[in-house]
Amino acid sequence: MSPNAAEATAVAHPNIALIKYWGKADAVRNIPAVGSLSITLDGLTTTTRLRFDPDLGADRFVLGGRRAPEMEARVTSCLDLLRQRADVETRALVESDNDFPTAAGLASSASGFAALVVAADRALRTGIATADLADLARQASGSAARSLFGGFVEVSLTAGARGVMPRTKQVLEPSAWPLGVVVAVTDTGPKDVGSTEGMVRTERTSPYYSAWVDSSGADLAEARAAVERLDFEALADISELSCLKMHAVMLSARPGLVYWNGATVECIRRIRELRADGVGVFFTIDAGPQVKAVCLPEAQNRVATELGAVPGVGRIIESGLGDGARIVEAVG
Ligand code: DP6
Repeated sequence: MSPNAAEATAVAHPNIALIKYWGKADAVRNIPAVGSLSITLDGLTTTTRLRFDPDLGADRFVLGGRRAPEMEARVTSCLDLLRQRADVETRALVESDNDFPTAAGLASSASGFAALVVAADRALRTGIATADLADLARQASGSAARSLFGGFVEVSLTAGARGVMPRTKQVLEPSAWPLGVVVAVTDTGPKDVGSTEGMVRTERTSPYYSAWVDSSGADLAEARAAVERLDFEALADISELSCLKMHAVMLSARPGLVYWNGATVECIRRIRELRADGVGVFFTIDAGPQVKAVCLPEAQNRVATELGAVPGVGRIIESGLGDGARIVEAVG
């Protein structure tokens, strides 16, 4: 088969980390300094159509109908990993659409690179195993590895001949524990400092960074055990701890990274009040001001109503847990 005419369309969902990744053991190879545990969301979707075209001199990346040249170097580096495996040099047109705000702490790069590697693997017919595709996506963006899988997903670090290596695997199917997620969108603008830059600043300047790294393995083990026994209270407790520890280490960078706004803090307070009232909900927040409330299914409607009423919350997005990145259409 000629890969030149091949095209494929893949979909992927963002994931949100309950045990957070923040910091790199190796910036060149993009090896995370800590393991992480996430849930994949079905309510937000990236759709990526990729076509290898022998007439193209360079890869082209179109996001939401507009050429996005600032992303093209990262797209090319990621596609090069697959082209090397397939032994082809053909460039590609990549058209990607998100049905949610881009670059606002909703992990659009995670779903974007997950969809990209799946589409390229199909179009090039490289037949790479999912865990290895996750590793290719990880080199583009650490959190993207997790969107290759559905449900509850863990990135663990193991010592190998080439130093520490991350490995991504599913811990639990989405149907095994169908939690809901309510995203309270408090700002749709792009964030001031992206994750990659924020991590570098934190590693270099926060006096608490080593404490963050040293304590994260125990948090990961505790969260994995909570997921395996479907223990919501235990998962709530350790997830909020991981989130607040990550923001503490961000805040202690120089200059400090403040990703929250007033509505973010109000949502945290409301979620804590609800949980004290016996409602099954906890919060998590990434490198942006949106609040993600993870809920037991019976609590989701109430949580959506309560967070929607918090001043400064502009939009509520609801989601269940979803599947990993997958092909929806292929030609050639
Ligand atoms: C706060 O995966 O975006 O969302 O590897 O540099 O691309 P790079 O970083 P990225 O960082 C995600 C950080 C986070 C926490 C998480 O998702 O675990």
